[in-house]
This record gives sequence, structure tokens and C-alpha cells, in this order.
Amino acid sequence: MTPDEKKQAAAKAALEYVEVGTVIGIGTGSTANYFIDMLADIKHKVDGTVASSEASAARLKQHGIQVLDLNAVDGISVYVDGADESTQHLQLIKGGGGALTREKIVAAVAGKFVCIADESKLVDVLGKFPLPVEVIPMARGYVARRITKLGGNPIWRDGFVTDNGNIILDVHNLEILEPSKLETELNQITGVVTNGLFALRPADVLILGTDQGAKTMT
Ligand code: A5P
Repeated sequence: MTPDEKKQAAAKAALEYVEVGTVIGIGTGSTANYFIDMLADIKHKVDGTVASSEASAARLKQHGIQVLDLNAVDGISVYVDGADESTQHLQLIKGGGGALTREKIVAAVAGKFVCIADESKLVDVLGKFPLPVEVIPMARGYVARRITKLGGNPIWRDGFVTDNGNIILDVHNLEILEPSKLETELNQITGVVTNGLFALRPADVLILGTDQGAKTMT
């Protein structure tokens, strides 16, 4: 199977987690896009969606799927999204697409977080994929210096502005042995909005697309 076919297999398997008559959280990225396209076939079964990015909201609307404001809903039954890396403990790096903050908010609200990915995203140790950190623009230099002191090499994602009007620092050269500790440390730097570690709130279910089909880990 190609990587895209593996992403599609994972997205298809995630449809089983859609709860009829509830609001569904929708992630961002190529794997989440496959899920959105498949959700279109059963859109009449859900009460609506909350999107983690403007791009996903636009794709949902193109399919005629209702997109709701998070503040207008009582809860989200399940959140389906991709990841850039996952450990076997379902702790993740996300934010390759720059949507990490809204993704983290939707994941926090959701009763269940189902992560969908091709099997190449499964790693022993997080950090080979540069860790995205969303930063208030005026704090860029300060935050970069603080991250350097922690041992990372922050690179400004030049020209990119998040849906929240902020910038992204991609932190290279990290070997993240204690994901929850680093997630907390980075979030305590003044000027950081949030970082792309999903360790304090990991996924509840990981569905990996493999050559043998979708493999589910919990
Ligand atoms: C978006 O900001 C990210 O968190 C994505 O979920 C992540 O980059 C995975 O994207 P793909 O499904 O395109 O690999």
C-alpha cells in the first residue's frame, strides 16, 4: 500500500468511532482530509462538527457538513485527527500544519481522541520531527533564546501565520524522553501559546494504516 492508501485505511476505520447524533471534532492535515471526505457520506448521522482549522472548516463546508463554533456546543463526543509522530503510549507530536493550538483545544474538549496516521508516524522516541511551538509574534526572539537554553534548535517558520495570528517556531534536535515534562516546561515560557506535544492529553485510540490494513492501538 502507498502512504496515501494507508492514511485512507486509517481514516476509514475511524468512521466506526463516529457517534450518531453528536458533535464530532475534526482535525487538520492530509489524513484528516481523507476522514472529512468519508464523513460526507454519513453527514446526516451527526449533529455537526467543530473544526481545528480554517482549512478543515472550509473542506467540511464544501461537503455540506455543518461547522459549529466550539462555544456553541455542549461537548464533542470524538475528535479525529492525524499526527506527525506517535509513541506506543499514544503521546504525539502535532502541528506540522500549524494548527496545533486549536487541535489541542478540541482534543481537550473531546470525550475521545482518535488519532489516524500511516504506520511511518509510529516512533520509539519523539523529536525527530521538529516540534512546533506557537508563539505571540513579539516574543519570538525571547522564546527562541529560552528554547535554545533547553537544548533545542528553534527555526522560525518564515512567512507562516497561524489561524490565531501568531508565528511558529519549529524546534529541531530534540530527543524527547519525558514528553509531559517538556510540554509543561515549554508552555511556561512567557509568549508561548502552546506547543505541539500531546502528552498530558494523549490520544485515546491510535489507528495506523499498515500493509495489512488498519491496526488499532489503545
Ligand atoms: C496539523 O497541524 C498537524 O497536527 C497534523 O495533524 C499533522 O501534521 C498530520 O498531518 P498529515 O495527516 O498530513 O500527516
